[in-house]
Amino acid sequence: MSAPLTSRFPYAKGSDGSRRLGYGADYNPEQWSREVWADDVRLMREAGVNVVSLAIFSWARIQPTAGTWDFGWLDEVMDLLHAGGIGVDLATATASPPPWLTAAHPEILPVTASGQTLWPGARQHWRPTSPVFREHALTLVRKIASRYADHPALVAWHVNNELGCHNVYDYSDDAARAFRSWLRRRYTTLDALNNAWGTAFWSQHYSDWEQLLPPRLAASHPNPTQQLDFKRFSSNALKDHLLAEREILRELTPHTPITTNFMVMPGTKGMDYTNWADEVDFVANDHYVTPGPQDRDELSFSANLTSGIAGHRPWFLMEHSTSAVNWQPVNPPKKPGELARDALLHVAHGADAVCFFQWRQSAAGAEKYHSAMVPHAGADSELFRSVTELGRTLDALAPIAGSEREGARVAILFDWDSWWASEQDSHPTSRLDYHREALDWYSALHRLGHRADVVPAHHSDLSAYDVVIAPVLHVVPPPLAKELTRYVEGGGHLVTTYFSAIVDENDHVWLGGYPGALRDILGIRIEEFGPLLDGDTVDLDNGTTGSLWTDRITVTGTDVEVLAGYRTGTYASRPAVTRRGTCRGSATYVSTRLGVDGLSVLLPQLLAPAGVVSELPHDAHGSVEHAVRRDAEHRYLFLINRSDEQVALPGLTGDVLVGPRPEGDGLVLAPRQAAVLRQSRQSAP
Ligand code: GLA
Ligand code: GLA
Repeated sequence: MSAPLTSRFPYAKGSDGSRRLGYGADYNPEQWSREVWADDVRLMREAGVNVVSLAIFSWARIQPTAGTWDFGWLDEVMDLLHAGGIGVDLATATASPPPWLTAAHPEILPVTASGQTLWPGARQHWRPTSPVFREHALTLVRKIASRYADHPALVAWHVNNELGCHNVYDYSDDAARAFRSWLRRRYTTLDALNNAWGTAFWSQHYSDWEQLLPPRLAASHPNPTQQLDFKRFSSNALKDHLLAEREILRELTPHTPITTNFMVMPGTKGMDYTNWADEVDFVANDHYVTPGPQDRDELSFSANLTSGIAGHRPWFLMEHSTSAVNWQPVNPPKKPGELARDALLHVAHGADAVCFFQWRQSAAGAEKYHSAMVPHAGADSELFRSVTELGRTLDALAPIAGSEREGARVAILFDWDSWWASEQDSHPTSRLDYHREALDWYSALHRLGHRADVVPAHHSDLSAYDVVIAPVLHVVPPPLAKELTRYVEGGGHLVTTYFSAIVDENDHVWLGGYPGALRDILGIRIEEFGPLLDGDTVDLDNGTTGSLWTDRITVTGTDVEVLAGYRTGTYASRPAVTRRGTCRGSATYVSTRLGVDGLSVLLPQLLAPAGVVSELPHDAHGSVEHAVRRDAEHRYLFLINRSDEQVALPGLTGDVLVGPRPEGDGLVLAPRQAAVLRQSRQSAP
């Protein structure tokens, strides 16, 4: 993305030409008759919808056989939407290949690690590296792009859909060929590859590129660097598909911005979006809540990380749900107020468009029990009334369109290489959950009333933060080690944890004692890991409890303070949490999994030296999430009650864009209610 913050974002415009936040859904008119289409547009207007994503799964309808094309229905829908003042984020329709294509070319079907074919009958049954699929897909993209390039409804291009949702890992012969080419580009020589992969181990030395394979089902643990490289390659293969479609769109419709919907969520770790974001004109994300004790922390974490990936430019929430999904084991509906509250959490973190999957709930097909904006019950429903209400709320938020997210003083680093590598097999424990550890830190900060930015570990400006938390930053190549060291020496406060800074980019261990890449700056040395068995815990002398992991730490620096020691367990009386103070900064190491409770006890000690204090009244800690957006003149304070209780916020003032009017000297938020206050930047901090 090029410099201007919002230049390529497809803003809707109000009648006075001013920017509006986007509001809408995936729209699948091919599932309905013509009469329903007219009703759809009428109801969309009633709900305040101004953008829809169209034709995502329309390939079979647009190209019913190899040699026939049918655009008549799509022309009609595009015209109807335009007449209704609704913009179209038009999909390239390549997400789900039609039966005629897979029947004629079964060689496009993905293959699992154990050699099973993934057959048609669902969706996304295509190999990212299949030249045959690519050719057919690009023909379709060219047809659609030429037909609609100048259609007045077109506001953006939607490449494919959720690339990698079901097909990120393909072990076919096409994948093997493409993996070899990728490896040749990465390593140039076989010697370099053999070194990087450590092939002296288990007689794996390669003497010809043709011998290289994806990590297919093997007799024992496949080579770890081969596995890690295959993950990098697979993410990249999908990105290549994005680029191939994008090039055609850029050629034929250079003025229309292009995106694809990311899935920044714990269950979709296959795509390293940090190196995809620069390839789209604006970042789009999909998010679904997985019910559980940290569900809204996870929503907030995802929105926050999406903003980090987008370089804190406004991004587009392409999908979330109005209520229940259909793909978890049990799919409860959202509670009253959650529809708007969840949407506004995304907006608080920089989303300038709020869209749902999908507009009208399907009557047939695998997603017929997935909620939508118009439910099975029809427009005369609580759900549709909530949808219409949210439309009005987003309209009231028009002044924030294009504003930037105000950075926090604390950052949590997130790194796909570390996510992938730390959870690979044949490790000290198979129980490590990279995302969960990062989320626990985020939850603990929220519980203490602090906001934090979640940012990619590489290429983020660490100097913007007083405290940088790097949970399980497992993969630390030399440049990152230098950057983190420089950050601490420059006065920053770095916090890292167990199993961090253990390997380089090739998954080779930094020798001489753990955590090799940061041993000096931390002033500690670890000779052996002490992972804990399931159910085992250790007590620390600050009253917290550790699980999952312990380390046998020796303090080596003279300026290292032990913030907490082990009271029980194999390492009883040894250090558990250490901090090395430099002249201005510090480097803290946390050797066990403390969970949200333990981190909430520890964090005040880590934040105090940096002078980080909560901006929220104490009673709101843990229930109200706050986030700030701002433009040249204003600061927009988002206050979102994540709890099921009423919360009072004394001392907060400003113009109310959304939410209750201040009473006396502050605001009272009802359960699950959100408020947005506009403050002048002259009078605000
Ligand atoms: C994904 C897909 C949609 C739909 C939703 C359901 O986000 O992109 O097509 O399947 O999941 O939650
Ligand atoms: C077996 C094998 C060794 C090694 C060990 C590890 O004994 O023979 O090569 O893999 O297991 O426990």
